Amino acid sequence: MTTTHSGVPTATRATAVAARATDLTKVYGQGETQVVALDGVNVEFRQAEFTAIMGPSGSGKSTLMHCMAGLDTISRGSARIGETELTGLKDKKLTQLRRDKIGFIFQAFNLLPTLSALENITLPMDIAGRKPDKQWLDRVVETVGLAGRLKHRPSELSGGQQQRVAVARALASRPEIIFADEPTGNLDSRSGAEVLGFLRNSVRELGQTVVMVTHDPVAASYADRVVFLADGRIVDDMSAPTADKVLERMLRFSGGSPQTPGFDAKGRTS
Ligand SMILES: Nc1ncnc2c1ncn2[C@@H]1O[C@H](COP(=O)(O)OP(=O)(O)OP(=O)(O)O)[C@@H](O)[C@H]1O
Ligand SMILES: [Mg+2]
Repeated sequence: MTTTHSGVPTATRATAVAARATDLTKVYGQGETQVVALDGVNVEFRQAEFTAIMGPSGSGKSTLMHCMAGLDTISRGSARIGETELTGLKDKKLTQLRRDKIGFIFQAFNLLPTLSALENITLPMDIAGRKPDKQWLDRVVETVGLAGRLKHRPSELSGGQQQRVAVARALASRPEIIFADEPTGNLDSRSGAEVLGFLRNSVRELGQTVVMVTHDPVAASYADRVVFLADGRIVDDMSAPTADKVLERMLRFSGGSPQTPGFDAKGRTS
């Protein structure tokens, strides 16, 4: 049986689809200033799977996350969360869907400084007037290793701990899928490894579905699968990634044509 880098046997994974893009196209602007950020993207994100999205700067990674999470409109094609098509949803339904089914983790932790860690974690649910499931919350806090830190304000926590609060906040409402855009981009490598470990645990132990943008081959190696974007298109799809395999693939791109801009060793465009 094949085993992914995260140690979970591939064969035992659920195959239900948590989110799906079909011919997803996003065009910004008009005429001469028009930018095709996504050009007919077809991709599925399976339940309880950890997917990394990689690609040069400007390749459309954030746009893909925003369109899939209903934070931006799409120009053509379709974006679905579970069975729900995002296009055509009225504002209220879209807000509800985002609140109930989607978690988002950004590069900046976006915590409120005057609230404790616990208050930050439950804030979205408090705003929505929903009572957190105590048992679930305890499990989330345990999984992200924040027990004993819950009364601390963000300024009293390390960067890694603050991002773990943001991870817990995204997990608290048991969303169908979590989108994370360079969640370790502002962290030193040790704190980054902590956060990646906790994201991976949330997939392995809580069955969470996670899609994460990263520039870092080591970060990508925590995922079960890596999807590569270039110029708004998916150019590769790798399962059971290792840092070496990912780096090798990135370097291969850098020898490619001008249509596929190169990466340097850190994955930034050269
Ligand atoms: N609001 C916008 N208006 C116009 N163009 C945009 C807008 N947002 C993104 N773009 C363009 O769409 C393309 C894709 O951008 P996107 O932010 O998705 O790239 P990315 O892969 O996330 O890059 P990075 O690694 O630098 O974060 C880029 O050419 C960008 O300039
Ligand atoms: Mg981006």
